[in-house]
Amino acid sequence: MHQVMALAMVCLLVAPSILRAQNPLIEDEIEAKVEALLQKMTLEEKVGQLNQHSGSWDVTGPVPAGNEYAQRRAELLKKGGVGSMLNIVGAEATYEAQKLAVENSRLGIPLIFGYDVVHGFKTIFPIPLGESASWDLKAIESSARVAAIEATASGLTWTFAPMVDVGRDPRWGRVMEGAGEDPYLGTQIALARMKGFQGDDLTDENTMMATAKHFAGYAFSESGRDYNTVDVGTTTLYNIILPPFEATAKAGIASVMNSFNDLNGIPANGDSFLQRELLKEAWGFGGFIISDWGSIRQMINHGYSKDLKQAAYHAITSGNDMDMESQAYQNHLKELVESGEVDIRIVDEAVRRVLRMKFHLGLFDDPYKYSDTDREKALLYTDEHRAIARDVAKRSIVLLKNDRSVLPIGDDVKNIAVIGHLANDKDTPLGNWRGRGESGSAVSLLEGIQNAVGSKVKVSYAEGYTMSTDDGVFNRALHFPEDDGSGFAEAIKIAKKADVVILTVGEKALQTGEGRSKVDISLTGRQLDLFNEIRKVNDNVVVVLMAGRPIVEPELYEQSTTLLNTFHLGTEAGNAIADVLFGKYNPSGKLTMSIPRAIGQIPVYYNHKSAGRPSPGPGDEGSVFWSHFNDEENTPQYPFGYGISYTTFEYSAPELSGSTMGMNETVEVSVDVTNTGDFDGEEVVQFYIRDRFASTMRPVQELKGFEKVMIKKGETKTITFTIDKETLSFYTHKGEWVAEPGMFSIMIGGSSDNVQMVELELLD
Ligand code: BGC
Repeated sequence: MHQVMALAMVCLLVAPSILRAQNPLIEDEIEAKVEALLQKMTLEEKVGQLNQHSGSWDVTGPVPAGNEYAQRRAELLKKGGVGSMLNIVGAEATYEAQKLAVENSRLGIPLIFGYDVVHGFKTIFPIPLGESASWDLKAIESSARVAAIEATASGLTWTFAPMVDVGRDPRWGRVMEGAGEDPYLGTQIALARMKGFQGDDLTDENTMMATAKHFAGYAFSESGRDYNTVDVGTTTLYNIILPPFEATAKAGIASVMNSFNDLNGIPANGDSFLQRELLKEAWGFGGFIISDWGSIRQMINHGYSKDLKQAAYHAITSGNDMDMESQAYQNHLKELVESGEVDIRIVDEAVRRVLRMKFHLGLFDDPYKYSDTDREKALLYTDEHRAIARDVAKRSIVLLKNDRSVLPIGDDVKNIAVIGHLANDKDTPLGNWRGRGESGSAVSLLEGIQNAVGSKVKVSYAEGYTMSTDDGVFNRALHFPEDDGSGFAEAIKIAKKADVVILTVGEKALQTGEGRSKVDISLTGRQLDLFNEIRKVNDNVVVVLMAGRPIVEPELYEQSTTLLNTFHLGTEAGNAIADVLFGKYNPSGKLTMSIPRAIGQIPVYYNHKSAGRPSPGPGDEGSVFWSHFNDEENTPQYPFGYGISYTTFEYSAPELSGSTMGMNETVEVSVDVTNTGDFDGEEVVQFYIRDRFASTMRPVQELKGFEKVMIKKGETKTITFTIDKETLSFYTHKGEWVAEPGMFSIMIGGSSDNVQMVELELLD
């Protein structure tokens, strides 16, 4: 304990000057106000600011009669015993709760209201994994912007997003909340989403605090099982997991949430290396750290804290500022300070951080400014927001196959068969973590197709296979009801008569997300059987895959001729998919997470290190003594960066402005990309490197830049990336950020598995 405390104190003493130098959240005027308020606070009031409670007061008003728990919480609010509430939503409910805190407590310190606004609030956007496939930072920022406009009009001041966990294991249901497997792209997306939520000025009535979560390593939960232990090496931690946290912390993100897992046997919640040394000290993070739900208490289950009091001690001394729903601080922090076990300066530091954000939000000037029922009525679910949601959704769709050029569907098509339970499902497109998106409110694919064709084309529908509707809202769904195949006949009948079949397969909304880890991520039930039956009777089958994670189903990928990966696309899903099907929009998405060929390959990802035996020796192709599977390829079904278009793009060989580069010089790499097909289209030009030899092994490929560019048919555009020392730097196994002289492969192409290469030497 003493060691932890000593370290905490060192960090406290050095932190302020570093913060002042680095973090955009540190402003002298606000710091002075924070200090003045802190001086007036009693120990109880300080501890109060560090507690976060959950409530659902929008149902019956702030203090439901007869609800003792709510009564107790109301008393606590009146005493200034709560710093923040989560899950209170709505202008009225937040107004009432705010009033309790502001008008009754001695110092009248306002509350901040937090909620998981993950991919939209009322107007729902694609799940973040889907959105990431757009590689369109402007679109991604606009989705977060709309979410913030709606959420703040409903009284919220804080979202627990973006989740910036770089993930490689699709068995982990929470990959739906992230931006895929790459740290560079993940960082750009994290910054775009942060900007969308926080805007340029947090005092604006339509901007809100964002949260980078989960700090750190949560996506590496062993075997993809949620809440499981994590065991990663230093180079993976520094180069893969931490970059989006570092970038958002330095850019001024308002909060960071720690994670349910441990790293090296220390629960993240009690880890002073992560929270103090890295985040607060080295990166100069100026916001505050919130625990995850109950994660302080969970340190007891981890076998790290012997009781809640010690858990509170571990959390506060290692840098966790606010306690979400463990009631560890509420019950024990005062006592820990009074007994001298926790230095008051540690508590003061945490309180300062919370107050700082309340000043930044402008809550002391007007605690009710987010709780305006007129704004709430005017700003939610508007036509404008729905139009933006449709735009982002169509950009998120990835075309995987179009072998027979069935897409885009032309005017000659007069009879379309739409098949599959998911095509007529108005709920699934909302995905998991759908904020206040109303159940069943999405535009289904069937509706989208009908909207697009009107009465000109005959559209028939058959459900085909059944899917459980009770697929685990909060229940485990281990067994799906048997499908007796009774829907097949009707589906086959309409497929036979149709010019084109649109067949949807995939996952329902709540088969993915938190607590939805799966060992089998292939299609459930009889979906694959139906696909096989339908393709026997019609050659023009367009498969629309709707899921929250990469689905492993080799037969589907290999036997289909036309395949769209659409994810869960939100409120406007059906219209957006129809935009792509009928060629109103030429698909431009690229995968941000590899699709494995087999579950046993997981994790399979593009930026892996090279094995010592990466391939069979020359003339020894039959050998087994190299790094491979005896029953499967090493490569994924579809790699990171893959996605095709209705048009085709041809790349010239990349050219460097110089073949050597001094440490303080820059070199440019350029490529000509020509649209050689029949449609205008957007291409995501991807730039990768490989450091050939380094003091710490480097991946075979690392994304270092990309540009999404519109190229008209027949047109050629030159795309240029600048390479500097930073581009070629990495964290060593000791956590040092270095660029080492030597040879680098510079690669450019339209997918991680389709690049052309040129060599660059970095000189000493
Ligand atoms: C999740 C967090 C979320 C929190 C509050 C937890 O279970 O891990 O990501 O923000 O709940 O809803």
